[in-house]
Amino acid sequence: MDKVIIFDTTLRDGEQAAGASLNTQEKLEIAKQLDKLGVDVIEAGFSASSPGDFEAVRLIAQEIRRPIICPLASADATAVDKAWESVKGATHPRIHIFLSASDIHLSYQLRKSREEILEMSRSMVARAKKYLDDVEFSPMDATRADPVYIYQILEAVIDAGATTVNIPDTVGYAIPREFGDLIQGILDNVPNINKAVLSVHCHNDLGLAVANSLEAIRRGARQVECTINGIGERAGNASLEEIVMGLKTRQDFFNLATSIDTTQIYRASRLVSDLTGFSIQPNKAIIGANAFRHQSGIHQDGVLKKPITYEIMDPRSVGIPSSTLVLSKLSGRHGFKERLAELGYTLSEEALNRSFQRFKELADKKKEITDRDIESVVAEELRTITEIYSLDYVEVSCGDHSLPTATVRLISPDGQSLADAALGTGPVDAVYKAINRIVGIPNKLIEFTVKSVTEGIDAIGEVLIRIESDGVTYTGRGASTDIIVASAKAYMNALNRLLAAKGTVTRGIYSSPSKGEAR
Ligand code: KIV
Ligand code: ZN
Repeated sequence: MDKVIIFDTTLRDGEQAAGASLNTQEKLEIAKQLDKLGVDVIEAGFSASSPGDFEAVRLIAQEIRRPIICPLASADATAVDKAWESVKGATHPRIHIFLSASDIHLSYQLRKSREEILEMSRSMVARAKKYLDDVEFSPMDATRADPVYIYQILEAVIDAGATTVNIPDTVGYAIPREFGDLIQGILDNVPNINKAVLSVHCHNDLGLAVANSLEAIRRGARQVECTINGIGERAGNASLEEIVMGLKTRQDFFNLATSIDTTQIYRASRLVSDLTGFSIQPNKAIIGANAFRHQSGIHQDGVLKKPITYEIMDPRSVGIPSSTLVLSKLSGRHGFKERLAELGYTLSEEALNRSFQRFKELADKKKEITDRDIESVVAEELRTITEIYSLDYVEVSCGDHSLPTATVRLISPDGQSLADAALGTGPVDAVYKAINRIVGIPNKLIEFTVKSVTEGIDAIGEVLIRIESDGVTYTGRGASTDIIVASAKAYMNALNRLLAAKGTVTRGIYSSPSKGEAR
């Protein structure tokens, strides 16, 4: 069976999503999961765009040995050289160069002629080729470009050594049949196309990214670029899980294979959601909370009799954990560790101890501890940040006839216990104001969401927030059976990320952030 190469761009185009912010360690954590998932290529960042991106590519290239590691580069010499610098330690390095190809971009943005663009494309591929064999080229905004010009560019870059040519639907403009025709046109009209892999990269502005990708594959594309949970610029990119499960579930139609271990999909999806702070809509295909839930009586009856009546995929095939009761307050550290391993988590001893402590505290308040509760407990460990200030104590008084008041105590970087209190419009506002009085770093709360992890009155509440400081967004996550405590934890989490990016604080004095430290 023919194989479709899965090129994951969660760490590059996915991280370009407004409000997504991952630090270097979090990117590495995601890269490790992408490796377990079995993706063929990891686009690890845009090396020339920031020291943080450069460092993330360098670290991933050094640590993740099986898949191809690929930085993105614009078509200029400095960007190509930086891409190579960042990826040269990889076992399987690739460089991905892009340059606009539509007349709209050429005349309004780049102000260059078609001839100039063609020459830049050719010469930058040739430049990258001096460093390594595996070079990919993308004519940006290809779906709004003249197809004949796209054929010419592709022929030139393949001649210059491009081994993959990627067709981006940069603004999510294409319609499946039309996109399929473009792919067919390329296969029929680019004389040397057999010397390169034909790839596609679709955005979801019209909700057609997955449909366009699958149609392109049906017409002959053999690499697809996609992201976990479909995150990415604007409305996002084609979702990896939907494409992969589409190919697998309808193998009768496509007759194509991928190297993805689909049982790792759920874990990858949760990790990306936890680390980016983008929650997954309940009706999201494959990994949404309702994707395998049957509400109507007729459907439930059918599924109980034979799942195939209303289920086209087995939830276990995408790694969705059964929400059965697994642990209780009587469970020991060993049982907890075993369950974590079954769920795919390997924590350091210290992280395991902290998670176990949190599990015990939760088990005191909640009788039934499900897999989802455990995931929530562990998620705090995955958000790897240096805790500059830690939350020691929080208390609120509120009600319909009282002024919401909060008292908080934080432990400062030098171990001092700092307490303060504040009034607010509500209990969360009061807590955030009290914390601000201690930490004193200006920021604006731009998003606050709270949701319960499982059903039931004793469920864990998970709070996701975004704060903004100097135009940069920082996410925070906190979980607790008490949503005020969860809110305080989320705020501390976001503030610590802000402080880590801006510099550390010792006795109220900032020192500058270390080189390459990302958000
Ligand atoms: O959408 C796009 O055109 C891109 C390119 C850089 C491939 O992301
Ligand atoms: Zn893109």
